[in-house]
Amino acid sequence: AEYSMILTERQGRVAVIRLNRPQALNALCDQLMEELGQALRGYDADPEVAAIVLTGNEKAFAAGADIKEMQSRSYPAVYLDDFIGKRWEAVTFVQKPVIAAVAGYALGGGCELAMMCDIILAADTAKFGQPEINLGVIPGAGGTQRLTRAIGKAKAMEMVLTGRMMDAAEAERASLVARVVPAAEVVAEAVKLGEKIGTLSAPAVAIAKEAVNRAYETTLAEGVKFERRAFQALFATADQKEGMAAFAEKRKARFTNS
Ligand code: HXC
Repeated sequence: AEYSMILTERQGRVAVIRLNRPQALNALCDQLMEELGQALRGYDADPEVAAIVLTGNEKAFAAGADIKEMQSRSYPAVYLDDFIGKRWEAVTFVQKPVIAAVAGYALGGGCELAMMCDIILAADTAKFGQPEINLGVIPGAGGTQRLTRAIGKAKAMEMVLTGRMMDAAEAERASLVARVVPAAEVVAEAVKLGEKIGTLSAPAVAIAKEAVNRAYETTLAEGVKFERRAFQALFATADQKEGMAAFAEKRKARFTNS
């Protein structure tokens, strides 16, 4: 596909999508979000791809939704267009692991987009924030919900009410990100994570992701039951037989995603 605001590349079994509007700090306009959705759906459907890395550039993962594009919109227009629903949620429908490699600013919709991904790896230069309150609005792509679940009420409330940014070290302490790595290595580290996932059983990986996500949507008892059924179902796969046989025979497993 031809894209104007993202760059896409395959590194082995890992797809890398780079947000590419550097002149606007990767502000997430409608066109960019359409292209991102299209790329995500394409890679999710491609059996050669095991995981997807989403990144920006060294200055910005994304500095938020495009303020200049939003500025003059009316209530009926944003309501009827389902702004930001349909264009922004594409990443939450991806079945494969999506890893955000965040360097520089991840603000507003940029922070929200990173939080929709399954794992966030932060460069030591990363800065996270929900500055919407400075614009007279509030987060609109899950920020008040996902940030609160990730880092707890006290810090989320402080950030959402004041717009204060969090640096990478604080984001790691607060469990917003999985790990902090030197900026120059953040994409390579994310790709390495994706490659590791690519050596594993794809059905097990997909259902593991689904089960963890279940923890956000349901009660403990229901979540545990969902997990148990999923665990049991994996005994129907050849990969379970192979994985356990390989352990018993002290050799490396060769998964066939079946
Ligand atoms: C549109 C943006 C933008 C944005 C930056 N730019 N962020 N354009 N929307 N969100 C543009 C600037 O206008 C400028 O364009 C160019 O990118 C470089 O930005 P500067 O401000 O000159 O860079 P700098 O001085 O380094 O400051 C960096 C910054 C600042 C602190 C990140 O750009 C900033 O505060 N940006 C807005 C952050 C924000 O409020 N995000 C939340 C948006 S609301 P020109 O043409 O002047 O060079 C949101 C709602 C989400 O995300 C809800 C769901 C969609």
